[in-house]
Amino acid sequence: MVCTIMSEIDERLRTALDERISQQSLRTLTLNNGLIDFCSNDYLGFSRSTQLQKNIREAEENYPVHHIGSTGSRLLSGNNHLFEELEQRIASFHDAEAGLIFNSGYDANIGLLSCIAKRTDTILYDQLVHASIRDGVRLSYARSFSFAHNNINELEQKIKSATGNIFVVVESIYSMDGDCAPLQEIAKLCSHYGANLIVDEAHATGVFGEKGEGKIVELGLQKQVFARVHTFGKALGCHGAIVLGSETLRSYLINFCRSFIYTTALPLHSLLSIQCAYNFMESNAEMLIQLRNRIAYFKNNIGKMLKQSLIESNSAIQCIIIPGNENVRALAKQIQEAGFDVRPILHPTVPAGSERLRICLHAFNTEKEIDGLLQSLPLV
Ligand SMILES: Cc1ncc(COP(=O)(O)O)c(C=O)c1O
Repeated sequence: MVCTIMSEIDERLRTALDERISQQSLRTLTLNNGLIDFCSNDYLGFSRSTQLQKNIREAEENYPVHHIGSTGSRLLSGNNHLFEELEQRIASFHDAEAGLIFNSGYDANIGLLSCIAKRTDTILYDQLVHASIRDGVRLSYARSFSFAHNNINELEQKIKSATGNIFVVVESIYSMDGDCAPLQEIAKLCSHYGANLIVDEAHATGVFGEKGEGKIVELGLQKQVFARVHTFGKALGCHGAIVLGSETLRSYLINFCRSFIYTTALPLHSLLSIQCAYNFMESNAEMLIQLRNRIAYFKNNIGKMLKQSLIESNSAIQCIIIPGNENVRALAKQIQEAGFDVRPILHPTVPAGSERLRICLHAFNTEKEIDGLLQSLPLV
């Protein structure tokens, strides 16, 4: 009997996988291929920095108390001074009142979005927001509606017909497109209608702002934002995330946010890595400038024909639309064979017809590497 049930389930799983295979969209895990990196989120090269690795090792050696794991959740045995110091320090770096560290950006978004709104409230989110935001919204009891990507008019219409407290959720830089939200207009709209703006700064952290503070600080919108999410797994080269906002928000999350409460806290090594990465970012502003130069170099040198298929972006994420899973997959393979690690983004991760090559630029990519990548791309 048990065997029959197992095989039925197995068959159902197999059917789902076969469907993916027939749509050319089966996801598989691959090992690091040693190619020139044009796909990771390590925008500033912190993850590979031997100097930063050394700084982290020294910080660990000099830290008085050593546990391998944090031994519990923050509310039980997992808290320590370093967490609190770091939260305060990161909050002031991004010009926020307070911050609360989460184990990942996924945890931060799912936790924040699932607990912040009541049943009678409304959450409005850009249709292209990250899966972690969508999942958080799905877990919330509030009513929720998406609005067309970066479409201010549609957002305004939806705000006007929303009920209860209104939360508007956007990313400053969209992860699969690399483009920027019209943050000033969105913030103005939210202020006008008394809506609470939540901004995910995952791909803007370390990339925008004078020292990498993100888009909100760059645009001076700190006072108009209810909450910001910054992740440490991208430009900062480590792991984890922080939700920034008021002291009241911090306290609320400590009390009501399930992905914060019911999980083992980050270990010391992660905290020291995050601390060292912030120090490193503050004292190495030239890496940020180098990244910006590389982005400009790529954009200035991409051929005219390809430029038409490039999604407008000033960020480290540059996407070329190549419709069709099969086409984009084949092209990515060809570029990889030329030595460059570029990944195809397939349907269903993006809508059918807007499959793309997602090229991530880094401070460590040389102009010669960018030239090589551009030469490996087709002319049309
Ligand atoms: C916009 C955005 N938010 C959140 C996350 C999740 O962050 P993390 O990788 O730290 O879980 C990602 C990462 O893919 C992202 O792109």
